[in-house]
Amino acid sequence: MKITIAADAAAGARVVADLVERTLRDAGDRGPVLGLATGSSPLPAYAELIRRHQEEGLSFARARAVLLDEYVGLTAAHAQSYHRVIREQFTAHLDIDDAAVMSPDGAADDPAAEALAYDRRIAEAGGVDLQILGIGANGHIAFNEPSSSLASRTRVVGLTRRTISDNARFFDDPADVPVRAISQGLGTVREARRIVLTASGEGKAEAVAQLVEGPISARWPATSLQLHPDVVVVVDEAAASRLELSDYYRSVQELEAAVPAAGTRGR
Ligand code: F6R
Repeated sequence: MKITIAADAAAGARVVADLVERTLRDAGDRGPVLGLATGSSPLPAYAELIRRHQEEGLSFARARAVLLDEYVGLTAAHAQSYHRVIREQFTAHLDIDDAAVMSPDGAADDPAAEALAYDRRIAEAGGVDLQILGIGANGHIAFNEPSSSLASRTRVVGLTRRTISDNARFFDDPADVPVRAISQGLGTVREARRIVLTASGEGKAEAVAQLVEGPISARWPATSLQLHPDVVVVVDEAAASRLELSDYYRSVQELEAAVPAAGTRGR
């Protein structure tokens, strides 16, 4: 893995945005496929990409986007659906075609069949070129909570009590609060050609330490990313605070800044 410890949120956002920009440029005729996460972690990077689009003409016109997950029971138009959230926070501010933003259909009659079909749709799109990820304090990525199979595919998952109670405030009727989601599996996420995971704050420090230095284990689902050859982890000082080898990561970072040809490939 390549670890980047960013001085502040703006610096971290630029690292993620640079990777997206390179992906847009390098994808060739097929058009790039971006994997998008919802949640607060990627928001500074999304804001930086919106700025580059609006002020520097960075175009997403040929891009397609693939979401990680969606709540079962919510239509794409529902105010709390991840489809709608990513549209409002990111894609509506770009020149990407709305129809090119793909998410599992949370309102499908048969969510299990929809999950299988979603894996097929990702493959038909040519696979994800760059997957942007956040990480939960318990090490989850997408909705792959601890105990998720490291080989899991897109499937229906039960939400944790914590997630259900956190979401309750957004719904008038408690019966409408989603208790399940369709989530890309850990095996699905790892099929992306390149992955960038971003995290900030002390609350993510243990999960980040496990992700980078811990043993691969379903207890910390993000550790499955150690099996991927091209992962970039972008963290702030607080999220990096429990990394045992942070001196080493910083020295490599300085070296790569001095020798740009070293590039941004993960290790
Ligand atoms: C979002 C997702 C989640 C979040 C994670 C971190 O699509 O699948 O795994 O990335 O819960 O959330 P934030 O960034 O809000 O801390």
